[in-house]
Amino acid sequence: MKKIAVLTSGGDAPGMNACIRAVVRTGIYHGLEVYGIMYGYDGMIKGEINLMESHAVSNIVQRGGTILKSARSVDFRTKEGRQKAYEQLKKHGIEGLVAIGGDGTFTGAKVFYEEFGIPTIGCPGTIDNDIYGTDFTIGFDTAINTALEAIDKIRDTAAAHDRIFFIEVMGRDSGYIAVECGLGGGAELVMVPETQTTLNEVVQKLTSSKSKTSSVIVVAEGDEEGNAAEIMEKVKNTINDDSKDFKVTTLGHIQRGGNPTGKDRMLASRCGMAAVEGLLNGQANCMAGIIHDEVVYTSFEDCITKNKPLNRDTLKLIEILSI
Ligand code: F6P
Repeated sequence: MKKIAVLTSGGDAPGMNACIRAVVRTGIYHGLEVYGIMYGYDGMIKGEINLMESHAVSNIVQRGGTILKSARSVDFRTKEGRQKAYEQLKKHGIEGLVAIGGDGTFTGAKVFYEEFGIPTIGCPGTIDNDIYGTDFTIGFDTAINTALEAIDKIRDTAAAHDRIFFIEVMGRDSGYIAVECGLGGGAELVMVPETQTTLNEVVQKLTSSKSKTSSVIVVAEGDEEGNAAEIMEKVKNTINDDSKDFKVTTLGHIQRGGNPTGKDRMLASRCGMAAVEGLLNGQANCMAGIIHDEVVYTSFEDCITKNKPLNRDTLKLIEILSI
């Protein structure tokens, strides 16, 4: 293998740049030519593929976003789109691929590998932390710290005005961010897609304590009861007490940006290096993750289909600590 390429795809995550840097420099260290593909699979189809020298990744280890840009490609979901992408890789002589992203990215990579046989290794880049085969995903630690900073500030104003705040965090299909922020932010309750929390339970929680004058409820955007605004409205109507003041804050994309934490830089660099060395050692169709501080390669099939369950002890802990 002489030429490999790297791309970032799906929602960006802080630490993706550190991962790109590790892929480029590990590749160069091993005598490879490393190409950067712009805009994920879309750029692959369009041939936006450029050789990256070592200096191309200077001064990016600390930056959020992704210098290679990202996209959720519709065309790559079609056979014609993937055929065009393959032809572009062939044209550039690329024999291996590193795809940094989440489960959508790996689903695309798996189909592409099965159709065209270009060895591909993934790096887990998503703030959601919902990928099987790695303890943490790149960007998760930064996202929860960003959200916690916001929650701490909201608690100040909630306490000053004796208010009840519903704070919505990201996590379309997964409650990892909500759980971690709920615990760290001292939330009264956390609502996540993985567990059923009824509106009655929310009302009960908010009305049971005589001493609490303000409360924070953290809601994952994918919760089955709706988004934070919808849940707040229903709870407010049920409690029906004009002396209680309800507010909603949606943290949104603030959670996706910012300088990666030390943990995310470390994870991203290790996964990037492991992906390149995996390719050189004949690995393919799998993701390089870290489990118990060791590099582990997990098949794309398992990453996509297996569930990484929330830690039930943490959910219990939130319940205990919020009495
Ligand atoms: O998968 C990462 C994520 O940030 C989710 O938590 C969120 O639901 C989604 O991406 C938002 O995607 P977009 O930026 O495309 O709206």
